[in-house]
Amino acid sequence: MAVTNVADLTIVPVTPAQARAASDNMYPHWGQPNGVVSTDEYIKAFDSIAATGPWDTAYTAWALVPRSDPTTVDILSHCQTFRRRAFVVQPGSDTVKQVTSYVVAHVFTPPEKRSMGMARHMLRLLHYTLAPKDDLPTFPKAWGAPPTTHYGDAAFSVLYSDVGPDFYQGCTVGEDRPGWVATPTDKRTWPVGQGESTWDPEWEAIDLAQAKQLEVTATAANCQAMPRTGDRTRTRVAFEYTNGSFRFSPVRGAVIDVASHKRKNLDGLTVGVRLGAPSGVERPYIIYTARIRGGAGTKKMRIAHVQHPVPFDALLRVARAAGAQEIELWGDDSSWDAEEHEVTREKEIPCLASYSLGKNVEWLWCEQ
Ligand SMILES: CC(C)(COP(=O)(O)OP(=O)(O)OC[C@H]1O[C@@H](n2cnc3c(N)ncnc32)[C@H](O)[C@@H]1OP(=O)(O)O)[C@@H](O)C(=O)NCCC(=O)NCCS
Repeated sequence: MAVTNVADLTIVPVTPAQARAASDNMYPHWGQPNGVVSTDEYIKAFDSIAATGPWDTAYTAWALVPRSDPTTVDILSHCQTFRRRAFVVQPGSDTVKQVTSYVVAHVFTPPEKRSMGMARHMLRLLHYTLAPKDDLPTFPKAWGAPPTTHYGDAAFSVLYSDVGPDFYQGCTVGEDRPGWVATPTDKRTWPVGQGESTWDPEWEAIDLAQAKQLEVTATAANCQAMPRTGDRTRTRVAFEYTNGSFRFSPVRGAVIDVASHKRKNLDGLTVGVRLGAPSGVERPYIIYTARIRGGAGTKKMRIAHVQHPVPFDALLRVARAAGAQEIELWGDDSSWDAEEHEVTREKEIPCLASYSLGKNVEWLWCEQ
């Protein structure tokens, strides 16, 4: 490839033609293996996520391009960001502050352009679009001119790495501040096995509208609990659930199922279950998605959030009713640790880049 000098490159929000090119690139990697029938269906699926939730306005797709030809569809690397509200508590403080942050997703370099530092440079530039100028080192001379799009409101940003912990740390802020640093989080997996597979008659399905309500109550509860949670000697951050956290995974799974003709539409989508009897007091609940990822293999029930107390037996009944063979839970919830399970940390490693929060940051309730 002709371009080798990073000073000649920049990062831009994509044009519609570049968005199409990026989808054409991503479809064979993330669409087709999940059974999505065409790039058009893949695009439609993601458009319909935006139309269903509160996260749409906050979405940007980015491309690394030659500065001399910023609208080219021959993109060198691309990624996406989603703006998310989050809370921060400073060490020893009881005051919870609201900040802006970003989730980085779908980092992709076309196969013929790989191993040339393209993704790394794009992500190094990305810091300069997201963070306030005062929180960034001077833009390195060797990188040419800073990106012209500057949101400048991120206290921090995060991503989930499927390529280990090192690559994203090397996507530095400036020339040598570490980029996204791994904050390894336990993932617990329980086998489901045979047994009762129907819901208790008192349980109720949670739909999208109810999930939205629960996001509000769970966010308020976290906000209250935050000063007393985690390591008080560290700065602690947590995402607000009101970003659509309880709806995003089920909706994303369902639109992919629609795009792969496994489901007709999103009507009647259940995103969780409320346990116990309807009595007015807060009932325990589980927000989850049960899917087979990658088009084949095990059906997994991935838990997005649990409001305890949820007895393990009840969890198994929910999983069996959903046809799942395994249950996955992220984070530090040890409530069901007495049951046979496996703990792993290697896949989808949460990583965090701090801009205005210093180096010593703990990510609370790091759920997926
Ligand atoms: C990961 C990806 C974006 C890297 O793009 P790139 O432009 O080649 O990245 P760079 O040239 O800046 O850096 C390459 C380095 O990334 C690391 N890397 C890339 N893929 C990796 C993997 N699967 N596992 C571990 N490290 C990996 C290696 O250190 C690699 O160095 P090498 O080329 O000397 O082996 C690209 O391989 C890709 O698009 N993969 C498919 C989509 C994907 O997996 N995206 C990441 C999701 S978290």
